Amino acid sequence: MSFKGKVVLVTGASSGIGADVAHHFATKLGAKVAIVGRNENRLNNAAEEIKKCGGSTPLVITADVTKDAARIIDETIDEFGRLDVLINNAGYGDTTPILDADIEIFDRLMDTNVRSVINLTKLATPYLEKTNGNVINVSSMAGIIPYKEHFYSISKAALNQFTKVMANELGPRGIRINAINPGFIKTGAFDAAGWTEEQKQKLFDKIGKKNPLGRIGEVTDTTKLMAFLASDEAAFITGCLYVVDGGGMAANNFNQD
Ligand SMILES: NC(=O)c1ccc[n+]([C@@H]2O[C@H](COP(=O)([O-])OP(=O)(O)OC[C@H]3O[C@@H](n4cnc5c(N)ncnc54)[C@H](OP(=O)(O)O)[C@@H]3O)[C@@H](O)[C@H]2O)c1
Repeated sequence: MSFKGKVVLVTGASSGIGADVAHHFATKLGAKVAIVGRNENRLNNAAEEIKKCGGSTPLVITADVTKDAARIIDETIDEFGRLDVLINNAGYGDTTPILDADIEIFDRLMDTNVRSVINLTKLATPYLEKTNGNVINVSSMAGIIPYKEHFYSISKAALNQFTKVMANELGPRGIRINAINPGFIKTGAFDAAGWTEEQKQKLFDKIGKKNPLGRIGEVTDTTKLMAFLASDEAAFITGCLYVVDGGGMAANNFNQD
């Protein structure tokens, strides 16, 4: 599998799932990558890691997907002149029960996890059409199962449905769009949500033991799936949701208590 000469744009690439998939495309598959996040330091570190491992210099775009969608696409096209793969990965969770939550929490989550994805996909479409490109949305198992991350679950269900609806509009333009639905994956998301090391370890152990495959997910698990979906090997696949969860869904292993 090679992406030599191709351009991959990854949002939320300053850590976790996004950082790993950008690193893989750049260092193992020969792609040019544009990486997006709000934290400039972390983005620059991710770019340095890519260069250190032999990837070509990434385009670093310090930006907020809820505000800067047009600039993200424009800077990518200005730098590389084309776009082959858009990975809509930026997102976050919130565990406030709906009855306790201000509606603004819902607005902010939907803005990042859904609205920005729709906006970026629309803006990227003219360029993806020229390359027969594709879109991958990083959703969650919470988009299929009603997680007790209440608004989060709603946002990822909307993202899944967007993926399927949009496949109908993009297909005739030669563009594929799919979503991955990860179970628990070890990333900075838990730090960002304020979890202590002890809380994280307890959760990872518990979920890992209950997963049929006996462990929690690693970012390499999501990366390998995305590399396949972005490639010509998946040329007849669009509008699909791919669960990557070590069997967690099959074992009803999703809510944390
Ligand atoms: N880890 C899991 O168990 C898991 C499971 C299912 C789905 N997911 C999904 O996977 C995706 C990546 O999460 P992760 O686990 O890798 O968490 P993470 O390590 O916290 O990464 C989240 C990324 O999103 C970026 N981001 C968030 N809001 C943004 C915004 N408004 N504009 C630009 N970038 C933004 C963050 O960058 P900055 O802070 O630099 O902006 C960061 O790079 C998310 O969509 C998440 O819902 C994760």
